[in-house]
Amino acid sequence: MSIVVTGATGHLGRLVIESLLAKGVPAAEIVGLGRQVDRIADLGITVRQVSYDDRDALTAAFTGADKVLFISGSEVGRRIPQHTNVVEAAKAAGVGLIVYTSAPKADRTDMKLAAEHLATERLLAASGLPHVILRNGWYIENYSVAQALAHGLFGAAGDGRISAATRADFAEAAASVLAGEGHAGKVYELGGEPFTMAQLAEVISRESGQPVTYTDLSPEKYIEVLVGAGLPQPYAEILADSDRAASGGALEVPRADLENLLGRPVTPLAAAIRAAIH
Ligand SMILES: NC(=O)c1ccc[n+]([C@@H]2O[C@H](COP(=O)([O-])OP(=O)(O)OC[C@H]3O[C@@H](n4cnc5c(N)ncnc54)[C@H](OP(=O)(O)O)[C@@H]3O)[C@@H](O)[C@H]2O)c1
Repeated sequence: MSIVVTGATGHLGRLVIESLLAKGVPAAEIVGLGRQVDRIADLGITVRQVSYDDRDALTAAFTGADKVLFISGSEVGRRIPQHTNVVEAAKAAGVGLIVYTSAPKADRTDMKLAAEHLATERLLAASGLPHVILRNGWYIENYSVAQALAHGLFGAAGDGRISAATRADFAEAAASVLAGEGHAGKVYELGGEPFTMAQLAEVISRESGQPVTYTDLSPEKYIEVLVGAGLPQPYAEILADSDRAASGGALEVPRADLENLLGRPVTPLAAAIRAAIH
């Protein structure tokens, strides 16, 4: 068996590989792809330096793969051509199964960040390749506890509930799909314990012993705050749009799919925040 993981050099990819190894998949059966491959030199797996911009290199790296975990790229706005390369390469290499990390409710959300994910889901459907969609929810780690303690929490998510989970939980779920059987054709909506931003502030306050408040802003004002803090305008706009969508429930999904793949309850929000503090 050969499992290829794209985006292996990122935070999620490393956790997936660690989880595959913990499940007993031999290191010799795992290939990790990315550009900054020195980051994963310690994992003991085969690594290949491959860019999503290079379809031929992707095809070569996928050749012989039984399963590919296709972790979505991080270059927002460039992902449709890049992901097209990945899907075409997987098809050319004849991979047995491709598992893609998508976004919550990608087929029925107006969240701008989801558009490239929906396009990718459609590419996979059109490819005819056996595939699995993992619609990963928000990472709890997206919320910096250190920044919340220093400055408070700011956003535009209103009272929208956000079913965030730890990266490690999403990674373990991906590893169980890769190491298991019978997932082809499935679309999993993956999320954890839902919370509002005000509830997140309460949890951080309780776990740190330091009061933290959440300030809800209009999306326009939130963009101003993010740009003022040094974020590029396009990135600030994407974050504010995601919060706008979250205020209407775009990031709330049941936790059943994630817990079924994990075979255990999701990591509680309080435990994740405690781990980030200590
Ligand atoms: N659910 C969420 O809350 C959330 C939050 C942020 C991002 N995401 C999405 O989930 C993905 C994984 O999350 P993460 O935390 O692991 O992100 P990350 O740490 O930023 O890792 C991104 C990975 O994508 C690879 N990559 C990006 N552009 C590439 C390219 N042109 N060619 C080859 N590889 C490329 C990077 O490789 P190199 O670094 O080696 O170039 C890296 O391995 C992200 O890429 C993004 O699509 C989800």
